[in-house]
Amino acid sequence: MITILKATEEHIDGIAKVCINSYWATYSDILTTEYIERLISEFYTPSRLLKEVTTTNPEWNGWMVAVEDGKVLGAGVGGMISEDHGELHTLYLDPERTKEGIGTMILEAVTKELIEYGAKVQWVNVTKGNRKGIPFYEAKGFQFIHEQDEYGIIEGEDFKALRYHRLL
Ligand SMILES: CC(C)(COP(=O)(O)OP(=O)(O)OC[C@H]1O[C@@H](n2cnc3c(N)ncnc32)[C@H](O)[C@@H]1OP(=O)(O)O)[C@@H](O)C(=O)NCCC(=O)NCCS
Repeated sequence: MITILKATEEHIDGIAKVCINSYWATYSDILTTEYIERLISEFYTPSRLLKEVTTTNPEWNGWMVAVEDGKVLGAGVGGMISEDHGELHTLYLDPERTKEGIGTMILEAVTKELIEYGAKVQWVNVTKGNRKGIPFYEAKGFQFIHEQDEYGIIEGEDFKALRYHRLL
């Protein structure tokens, strides 16, 4: 049985594994190795994840995980970006376990909390060219709003992110 729950310290390794594997599976064709490695080493360290699973506030509402037999299959996190706008900050699955409805389960759990915080609109950033993420968000009613520079790019990198939103 797959359970969706708020992550604790015991899920840190699983979150890192799922996110790192999903990064390579999702972005190898559209981003450079240098960029992917830089982002992984920024986001998915044990010390950062420890802080993030123990932080729960409107802006960063802790990690939600999908767990089966104690194994993390997927992870996501959301937070408020203004009084009535929320954001899905991150959503990644074990690349072997996509298209089973797990992404939907995590998105629903994150969204429920954003609604409780007062969100009327939900935003998400998707890397331009992400053929796994974009069809999922469009199936969930998100609409493209605008394009902007990808997070954390440095001189010589020209990656773009697409901002999508949906009404809640
Ligand atoms: C995007 C992701 C989280 C979706 O999770 P998932 O568990 O595979 O999606 P679900 O099985 O819940 O699918 C939900 C809906 O999206 C659609 N969908 C999902 N992935 C799709 C794809 N690649 N192409 C077309 N439709 C897709 C499904 O058809 C389904 O529609 P339905 O509800 O009408 O049946 C997951 O595939 C993933 O981790 N992708 C790689 C990482 C990524 O891109 N994350 C987002 C970064 S912003």
